[in-house]
Amino acid sequence: MPITTCIFDAYGTLFDVAAAARSAAAEPGREVFARHWPAIAEKWRLKQLQYTWLRTVMGEHVGFWQITQDGLDWALEAEGLGDDAELRERLLQLYWELATYPEVPAMLKALKEAGKDTAILSNGAPDMLDGAVKSAGIGPLLDDVLSVESVGIFKPARVVYDLVGQRFGCAPEEVLFVSSNGWDACAAAGYGFNTVWVNRAGDPVDRLPAAPDRQLSDLSGIPDLVRG
Ligand code: LAC
Repeated sequence: MPITTCIFDAYGTLFDVAAAARSAAAEPGREVFARHWPAIAEKWRLKQLQYTWLRTVMGEHVGFWQITQDGLDWALEAEGLGDDAELRERLLQLYWELATYPEVPAMLKALKEAGKDTAILSNGAPDMLDGAVKSAGIGPLLDDVLSVESVGIFKPARVVYDLVGQRFGCAPEEVLFVSSNGWDACAAAGYGFNTVWVNRAGDPVDRLPAAPDRQLSDLSGIPDLVRG
């Protein structure tokens, strides 16, 4: 069945989640943070994801903005910077204006020119996603931005992937789902979407019930997969 609808994870897939810490580290007066930023960025992301899964299992849902702050607080404390309130505020501010990966605008433009529907499906809260999409200037290249907040549970719950068919009226086989999160790509494959795992780091495939259909090292090859 031809692909009609291309769905993208947001953080780590379209938006570079390390960009907030990288940008802050380049600012004057942040020499101490500049030594710690790669570890903080990695721990921040890891805790952010873990908290989504843990809170889901615990039945203690909060929005992704709270989760993002909780993950950052853990990471800053782990690296001995837990008392730097100004740094915390700056990193959180930068999260609302994350850069996209460089190939994103041209890739989305090519999909629109090929007549495909395009959207984000993300754990992000609607206002966070709105801020990042506006700041990156990619709003006109997206037909919608779908947030898990409309179902109140994080990925990889199946009800989250249901949002795509509900919004676009398409069958799972007509969807290309693209994520840089291996676990998200595996879960989407199990759901029945065609899936691409954008495996920028060359990581092994997650040992989960289904595997992604394809792997790419960046997003530039996506339009070639759906033309036809
Ligand atoms: C998202 C996270 C998982 O955007 O990256 O949903």
